[in-house]
Formats: sequence, structure tokens, C-alpha cells
Amino acid sequence: MPAGFKSIAIAGAQSAIGKAAVLALAATPGVSVLVLTRAVTARPAFLPDNVAHSGIDYADVNATTAILQEHQVQVVIAPLNSFAIMQQIPLADAAKAAGVQLFVPSEFGTVSKGIPDVETPPYLRVKMQIADHLQAIGLPYLRVFPGSFQEFIYPLVGYGVNKKVNILRSLKGDTPFSVTTCDDIGGFVAHVVTHHPLASLANKCFRIEGDRTTLNGLGAILDAPIEKVNDVPVPEGPLTSSFVGELQTLVDKGWLNTETRFVDGDGSGGANALWEGHHWTTLREFLKL
Ligand SMILES: NC(=O)c1ccc[n+]([C@@H]2O[C@H](COP(=O)([O-])OP(=O)(O)OC[C@H]3O[C@@H](n4cnc5c(N)ncnc54)[C@H](OP(=O)(O)O)[C@@H]3O)[C@@H](O)[C@H]2O)c1
Repeated sequence: MPAGFKSIAIAGAQSAIGKAAVLALAATPGVSVLVLTRAVTARPAFLPDNVAHSGIDYADVNATTAILQEHQVQVVIAPLNSFAIMQQIPLADAAKAAGVQLFVPSEFGTVSKGIPDVETPPYLRVKMQIADHLQAIGLPYLRVFPGSFQEFIYPLVGYGVNKKVNILRSLKGDTPFSVTTCDDIGGFVAHVVTHHPLASLANKCFRIEGDRTTLNGLGAILDAPIEKVNDVPVPEGPLTSSFVGELQTLVDKGWLNTETRFVDGDGSGGANALWEGHHWTTLREFLKL
């Protein structure tokens, strides 16, 4: 039997990462899975019959603690929406009170450990606050940094808007960065928590990588012209040009790759090897090019 955990709860199960993790865990023999949604959310239709479901009020720490205890949950995985990051504070408090041994917070992007403080954008600060809270309450974390979702590659360069690779004029565009599918990210999390012991996971940062490219390299992959722009065009919707520009800037600084080293334990060097024998989806495979 593998050395990992046997009882896992997932909050944010309806994110692409959460769904991939739930399906992988549900198919792992000897592992029980509990999906936590907000109380207003119905049991997600995709859940296999062997997955338990409970609706929670995130603010009600005692009630969530009781549910986690009832299911003897050992690990909480929380790929919550970026607007719901702070909901992880009461969730982590409940997990700690219930005796949970490991919490996998909603990171899943840019490296957030050891990065220079003055350059840290607000969307990363809140993720760092969660990591700090987990440390403060003595609940070990496992932080996973996959670079950009492959699903996010078109918006990252505004390709969907004008069929060009739009790169901020101020950037060189030659720094490698990691691009990983949500299926690989969720599958990786499910694999490591069920196959590796706590000592290998506790307070670790794992950088993973399905593939590697550069902003300029996307021109060749997408067979599209590079356009140097002042503002990256974004499609209609909630995504803002300033956020995408900020992300491109971090890509160019090397904050989304497996190599750039900030501090000890920041995950530089990569952790793909922990998913033994796995074929990681390349960007060309994902885009079917
Ligand atoms: N690296 C990248 O390129 C990249 C791209 C996008 C996102 N991300 C990161 O990946 C993580 C997941 O983001 P996502 O966009 O994939 O998530 P998403 O699909 O928008 O997340 C959906 C989940 O979030 C939960 N949720 C939404 N609002 C909530 C609230 N107010 N309180 C509690 N739960 C709430 C939903 O819960 P219910 O199940 O209860 O409905 C649902 O399960 C985030 O950390 C985000 O920053 C990274």
C-alpha cells in the first residue's frame, strides 16, 4: 500500500483543479473523499457515487469542524476561486480543530514563497496571508506552483481577441515559464497526498511543469505574429488588462518557472518526479496543434 493519506476533503471541488483531483481520488482504492461546497451549492452532478458531499457555511468553524471530524479527514485540499481566498482562514481553523494533518491551499500559479516583498502584487499577498495563517496555527501546508494554466494561455497574451501574441512593450519575452493543465495539477495533488508520507509533504512548496515556453515562444507555437503593446487586450468579462499585464511581467521576471530561486524551500528545482511514470500534457498536445 502507498504511504499516503486515506481520507481527503476537497473544498472548491468545482474548479477545474478540484474536479480533476476529486475524480482521481475517487478512483484511488482505499481512499475516502468528501466534497465541501458552500451550503447554497447543490451536490455537484459530476461527483461519483462513492464521494460524500456536505454543504458548509465557511464562517461557522464549529460546524465545519464537526463535519471534518465525522469523516475523519486527514487532508483538506482547497482550490477555491481567487475571490474566495480568505474563506480559507475559517476553513483552516476548522481543519486544525478537527485534527487534519495537511492543508493544500489555493495557490496554483505564481511562486509565492520568498518573493521580494515590494514587488508582490495584491493577488499573491492574500495567498501568502493564508500560508502565514497555516504556519501560525501549526497546520502544515503543501503549496503547489504550476506556472500558468495551459487553459489560460490565450488570455495571457490576448490571442483570443486579435489572433496575435500581444506582449507588453516593456518586456523582453525570453524568460522560460511553466504551463500546466488543470487535469495535471489536480492529478498531481491527488497523487502526492495519497502516495507520499506527511514528512515528504509538510510545509513543502512543489513547483510542477507540464511544459515550458516563453512569451515570445508562444508566437511559434500558436503560429501567430508577436505584437508589442502598451496594454494586453482582454476579452469581454471580468479579466482586466492590468492583471494580465502584471502576470506577463511576473512571467518575464521568472516567477512562474521551476528554476528561479528565492529562498531555501521555495520549490525551485521542480517536483514532477513525485508523480512517478506520469506523462505530463504538453502545450501542443493540450492545444491540439
Ligand atoms: N495559474 C493560472 O494560470 C491560474 C488561472 C486561474 C486561476 N488560478 C488559481 O487557481 C485557483 C482556483 O481558481 P479557479 O479560477 O480555477 O477557480 P474557480 O473555478 O472559479 O473556482 C470554483 C470553486 O470556487 C468556489 N467558490 C467560489 N466562490 C466562493 C466563495 N465565495 N466562497 C467559497 N468558495 C467559493 C466554488 O465553490 P462551490 O463548490 O461551493 O460552488 C467552486 O467550487 C485560484 O487560486 C486561482 O488564483 C491560476
